[in-house]
Amino acid sequence: MNKLRKAVIPVAGLGTRFLPATKAQPKEMLPLVDKPVIQYVVEEAVRAGVESLVLVTGRGKAAIENHFDVAFELEDTLRRRGNLSDLELVQGIAQLAQFAYVRQGEPLGLGHAVLCARHAVGDEPFALLLGDDVFDEADSALEALITAHHATGCSVVGVQEVPLEHVSRYGIVNAPPASDGPWKVTTIVEKPDPSAAPSRWAVVGRYVLEPRVFDHLAALEPGVGGEYQLTDALAALAREGRLVAAPIPAKRWDTGNKLDYLKANVEYALKRAELRGDFAAYLKDLAKDL
Ligand code: UTP
Repeated sequence: MNKLRKAVIPVAGLGTRFLPATKAQPKEMLPLVDKPVIQYVVEEAVRAGVESLVLVTGRGKAAIENHFDVAFELEDTLRRRGNLSDLELVQGIAQLAQFAYVRQGEPLGLGHAVLCARHAVGDEPFALLLGDDVFDEADSALEALITAHHATGCSVVGVQEVPLEHVSRYGIVNAPPASDGPWKVTTIVEKPDPSAAPSRWAVVGRYVLEPRVFDHLAALEPGVGGEYQLTDALAALAREGRLVAAPIPAKRWDTGNKLDYLKANVEYALKRAELRGDFAAYLKDLAKDL
């Protein structure tokens, strides 16, 4: 598989759905069991072959930079205590990839956040991963998109079918499903009313984009909610016949949503050999009284 060298991960949003937890800490640092959500996302990109990550951060997001940096005092203490397994765990995080950070001064929307990464990305295709969408780590969501990008040369959005009552939370594509390869996107609309949605295929936090998208982003006017919408730039790519959709065959949790966050924690805890037995017994006992 051909590699994509760079990925952008925007993490500058305010995380208002998770207040008060996100008053003084980034929502991307909330853990699934004991690992911050953002680390699952970074690891997915690295598994797909990405070497260089550009994180779009903002005020109050320093914990993310610290998490992917060397932690000298902690590492020194672990070394002196002979705690080599934790030392290896901590050191491995800073060695996952090359990290670069750009700042989004104001959270003006996802489209604006991606545009902030323009100079760090340069003139090459890149992956875009939203910092709060987590896919089951057994499958690689991003790999499905990279395959579609190499097959078509177009920009790619990862899509999943959602219930009709949820379409107003997503960018929704009109892309007649094709049995042989990626689906050509004819239109894409941001957060449509269910009665006006072109389909139930929602864009779910994974993209492979050509650098051409930056020209469209730079030309954007504020869209839905007064924010600069990535969807509007994707719609321009669709009009040029340069956008395809690839269905992502992996389970997903939107960890910026409380219910999904809780579900993800339960499922990731049950994946852990050291927790599974006691935790499953606890859940069964609890379920008796529900
Ligand atoms: P969300 O809408 O899920 O994030 O944006 P949010 O704005 O932080 O969440 P709520 O609705 O207030 O709870 C999707 C991704 O885009 C980033 C967010 O950090 C998140 O990872 N984002 C969003 C930015 O980087 N900048 C923005 O201006 C908006």
